[in-house]
Amino acid sequence: MNNLFSVKDKIVVITGGCGILGSRIGSYLASEGAKIVILGRKEEVGNQLVKEIKENGGEAMFLTCDVLKKEMLEQNRADIMKAYGRIDVLLNAAGGNMKGATIAPDQTILDLQLDAFKEVVDLNLTGTVLPTMVFVEEMAKQGKGVIVNFCSESAFRPLTRVVGYGCSKAAIANFTKYMAGELAMKFSPELRVNAIAPGFFITHQNHDLLLNPDGSYTDRAKSILGHTPFNRFGKPEELFGTIQYLISDASSFVTGTVAVVDGGFDAFSI
Ligand SMILES: NC(=O)c1ccc[n+]([C@@H]2O[C@H](COP(=O)([O-])OP(=O)(O)OC[C@H]3O[C@@H](n4cnc5c(N)ncnc54)[C@H](O)[C@@H]3O)[C@@H](O)[C@H]2O)c1
Repeated sequence: MNNLFSVKDKIVVITGGCGILGSRIGSYLASEGAKIVILGRKEEVGNQLVKEIKENGGEAMFLTCDVLKKEMLEQNRADIMKAYGRIDVLLNAAGGNMKGATIAPDQTILDLQLDAFKEVVDLNLTGTVLPTMVFVEEMAKQGKGVIVNFCSESAFRPLTRVVGYGCSKAAIANFTKYMAGELAMKFSPELRVNAIAPGFFITHQNHDLLLNPDGSYTDRAKSILGHTPFNRFGKPEELFGTIQYLISDASSFVTGTVAVVDGGFDAFSI
């Protein structure tokens, strides 16, 4: 019987591919036989990731990319088409928070730095919309393709302090649903778009919010754990199964959904 969850030989493009979640997901999918295109801003990190994937018998390439620069994305697309001739999957993993766009405990909305707010919204939202526009053009010609956007817990219920990040991730949940209809009805019902909403994973973007300089948990980290029935942070490898499901034929009738992977955080109240 065919393996419903197979990703073998799929050309998987990952924005934010040098980041913690993007890089771990890329290495995993490579180990499952996918061909990984790491898009990122850090050439040295990207080349090292490619080297590691190849040493483990996988296939990967790195391309320098800024998800907010359309021409750069178009060049990336041309390079990928030259190398592989098609694009099967886009993982929109570039994104994150910025210090200036958060509201410290002793501040209020009146202290919000609007420039930083706009920057975060731009990175997360435009940084998902623009790669989608550029890469979906090829997928539309193929009549088949899958996109997975990176949403967040903050999309469903606002978290204190991270106002810009939360607004932009809420918009990503909406954009995911919008695109599900847009692509299926105007291009092909084999073009699917879903999102993953990771719970709390300690990475660059939230490191200082969750860990004190001595490595102990901050009050915020303790508060998150207190609202997480599993009482722990997630591990990047706990996203692998959901991503594989969403990009494989196992989810061929699934589009416009947001898959929550969060140790019960979203399901829990008191
Ligand atoms: N870590 C978590 O707990 C968590 C939870 C929910 C959602 N997410 C989301 O998952 C995704 C991956 O996050 P992560 O935790 O691996 O963070 P990360 O900071 O390790 O990775 C994000 C990557 O995006 C890249 N990036 C930023 N701006 C870019 C730009 N303009 N062009 C190209 N690349 C750019 C960064 O260089 C970085 O490599 C993000 O969208 C994040 O918001 C993370």
